[in-house]
Amino acid sequence: MKILGLCGSLRSGSFNASVLRTAVDLTVAPRELVVWPDLGRLPFFNADVEETALPDVAAELRSAVGASDGLLIVSPEYAHGTSGVLKNALEWLVGGGEIAAKPVALVSASTAITGGDNARAWLSQTLTVMGARVIPQDLRIPQVVRKVADGRLTDEPTVAALRALLDDLADVAAEAHEGDGTFA
Ligand SMILES: Cc1cc2nc3c(=O)[nH]c(=O)nc-3n(C[C@H](O)[C@H](O)[C@H](O)COP(=O)(O)O)c2cc1C
Repeated sequence: MKILGLCGSLRSGSFNASVLRTAVDLTVAPRELVVWPDLGRLPFFNADVEETALPDVAAELRSAVGASDGLLIVSPEYAHGTSGVLKNALEWLVGGGEIAAKPVALVSASTAITGGDNARAWLSQTLTVMGARVIPQDLRIPQVVRKVADGRLTDEPTVAALRALLDDLADVAAEAHEGDGTFA
């Protein structure tokens, strides 16, 4: 089972990237969590460019989403929504259709006590409109600065909640394959 991880922060010391790194650590075979390397490589979405010469990186992202069994999206909250970089990535994905029916789990980590609730709400609404299957379980990580060290989540209850979310996502992804013998 292949899960694709997307991080909405480009910051080198990103707390959200730390959460995603921890999710990779928690994922063991036969599950696989592959992190998309740097959404900042995508140019700003432009429908003219999409129509005439789809950038390789946008095509690669579409293929990676298409080849995955589910997505784990980890986002900061900026100005009461998700980050521009993540919204831009979703705009490139609209036209491809690969995200349709794809199980998606949402995580937001914020330095604020609100935990990035607005970012997840925005993402849930937009991904649902795009046809993705946003799972009802999600994870908010408030005051994240106290819960991360050396690029990994260290807060045990939060690590446990992340592990549970990965299990929930895997269950929904497996359900989607029920009967085709892909997953044990
Ligand atoms: C321009 C800017 C806007 C922000 N807006 C919000 C916000 O609306 N709500 C919130 O909870 N945190 C907000 N934050 C705090 C970020 O969520 C916090 O810096 C977070 O750690 C960023 O994610 P990262 O560590 O993965 O880069 C904002 C930060 C910046 C720099």
